[in-house]
Amino acid sequence: MANEWIERWRDGRIGFHLEKTHPQLMRYWPSLNVPAGGKVLVPLCGKSLDMRWLAQRGYPVLGIELSSQAIEEFLAEGEGEVARYHREPFDIWRQGNVELWCGDFFQLHIENTREIQSFYDRASLIALRSAARQRYAFHLAQLLPPGAKGLMITITRSILPEKGPPYHVESDEVRLLFTPNFEVELLDVLPADDRGFSEHIWTLTRRGPSEI
Ligand SMILES: C[S@@+](CC[C@H](N)C(=O)[O-])C[C@H]1O[C@@H](n2cnc3c(N)ncnc32)[C@H](O)[C@@H]1O
Repeated sequence: MANEWIERWRDGRIGFHLEKTHPQLMRYWPSLNVPAGGKVLVPLCGKSLDMRWLAQRGYPVLGIELSSQAIEEFLAEGEGEVARYHREPFDIWRQGNVELWCGDFFQLHIENTREIQSFYDRASLIALRSAARQRYAFHLAQLLPPGAKGLMITITRSILPEKGPPYHVESDEVRLLFTPNFEVELLDVLPADDRGFSEHIWTLTRRGPSEI
């Protein structure tokens, strides 16, 4: 699976990438009332310009991505010096207040996310097979403190591909995956685009231990 993504990046098969900040991030992020200065975890981040938008608004970003090519392309499009270091098993690049960790999200440990206060996820679930989606929802919860809020943009495809990614993920599944550890609220459903992709906008709040 990791190789598949690395090949996709190498071959430029990145139809999910947006050449602009996601309008729904700009619209809905302020409603989360995340205090500026709090670090935002961006799992499976690609080279999303949304990270730059968050950073410019005073939210340090920790993005995590398998493909070093994606990370290098993000940095090349940015400004400022790039520092590079290694924290086993991740290669880490930093530019301004964006840190990009190259490696497998499932290897990210709570020790690495102590400063995280919120998260932003667009299109992670469609990148993962069914069992990995369950693991993802559980792992994300393990990395976040109670009360942490996140904005999640999921993508549902009306025209089913024969074989993913993108995998087919319905909103019922999103609820099932996250409700054990999060309060889940659906904010908006956008109409399908000409490729049959419809986006759902969610807020998730990590429940405290007594609520779980
Ligand atoms: C559908 S794309 C979404 C990228 C980004 N969130 C966006 O909105 O443009 C999924 C990304 O997750 C990366 N990825 C897939 N599995 C991963 C994993 N286990 N750990 C880290 N990154 C992963 C892929 O390389 C790809 O860039």
